[in-house]
Amino acid sequence: MSLRTLDHVEVDGKTVLVRADLNVPIKDGRITDTTRIDRLVRTLNELIRRNARIVLMSHFGRPNGKRDPKLSLAPVLGSLSAALPNARVTFAPDCVGPATEAAVAALGAGDIVLLENLRFHAGEEANDPTFAKALARLGGVYVDDAFSCAHRAHASIDALARLMPAVAGRLMEEELTMLGRALASPKRPVAAIIGGAKISTKLALIENLVGRVNTLAIGGGMANTLLLAQGESIGKSLCEHDQIGAARAIVARARTSGCTILLPHDVVVARELKCGVAHRIVALGAVATDEMILDIGPNSVASVKRSLESCRTLIWNGPVGAFEYPPFDAATTALARIVADLTTLGTLLSVAGGGETVAAVNSAGVAERFSYLSTAGGAFLEWIEGRELPGVAVLEGL
Ligand code: 3PG
Repeated sequence: MSLRTLDHVEVDGKTVLVRADLNVPIKDGRITDTTRIDRLVRTLNELIRRNARIVLMSHFGRPNGKRDPKLSLAPVLGSLSAALPNARVTFAPDCVGPATEAAVAALGAGDIVLLENLRFHAGEEANDPTFAKALARLGGVYVDDAFSCAHRAHASIDALARLMPAVAGRLMEEELTMLGRALASPKRPVAAIIGGAKISTKLALIENLVGRVNTLAIGGGMANTLLLAQGESIGKSLCEHDQIGAARAIVARARTSGCTILLPHDVVVARELKCGVAHRIVALGAVATDEMILDIGPNSVASVKRSLESCRTLIWNGPVGAFEYPPFDAATTALARIVADLTTLGTLLSVAGGGETVAAVNSAGVAERFSYLSTAGGAFLEWIEGRELPGVAVLEGL
């Protein structure tokens, strides 16, 4: 990978435009998870140390090109300042125009100005060159530290990066290095755990993985479609009947490429999807017609564990059960702990990504013991699918 990084650019005394992903979860005006801010600090501190003036920009939510006070980035300022106690951090109520240019001109070395939501302007998502030029007027060097947005060919990610020296920030660099270790040049055998509700949303991902990994464990609602395709009875479980053909094709492809697909052989079933509802663990084949599969069972967890014990690399996306409805989080939590233990033991390099997966690893209390947790959701999936990410492509080539 010939990624241009902060090592390849002079920033001392310059005004540096940093594209970050401050699209953080906020409830009742409060940030509920500061991971994306915390992971950005390394790049910002380096730029401060190197005497740059920093213009920080991000999108927040999906305002569809219109100003929406509910989607202002202003509430992020407090957490950002707290994460950078020695920096002077201010907020500009727009991201382009004379007032924003004046706020940028007032920056001293090491100061940061956070711009208002880029997506308040339709030009952002349209990758509009005129909007990109208006952003470019604010600085002379571009640093992209938003791997989690790299699948979006938007103006602040693509068009802007073509208008000035453009490099990856430290978080972007780390994401690509760790994902590369997990999938581009991994230590083998490689395993993947893929979960989530619908197989249709992850078909491209699974198709790419069966050609690249040695073991693919599939759980969550999407496993039901594969089970039904193999003639198993799944009661009234969530299932995509129109994907049965695709599910069979995946199994056939796995067979020819030497990938072992692990499907649950015992499952947790209930009559309704509700927290704390009555449930039972049954062998596959014993699911009643009025029951639905809501988690993989303990024997299936043990099978995945046995397989992971002989693997050297794991890539994980998606919970294997209806994680938000305890007790159907049990298998996902158990797997998170197993992966953490094997990682601590030094036998497994573990990389997980996607909002729900990272939330599950966090709630299992083992986040620190994974080799790497990606900050990305959609971009992580597209990267595993093997797609070119516009926000990465534009930073390549030394
Ligand atoms: C994310 O949260 O995955 C990124 O910020 C991208 O957001 P988007 O899906 O609205 O483009």
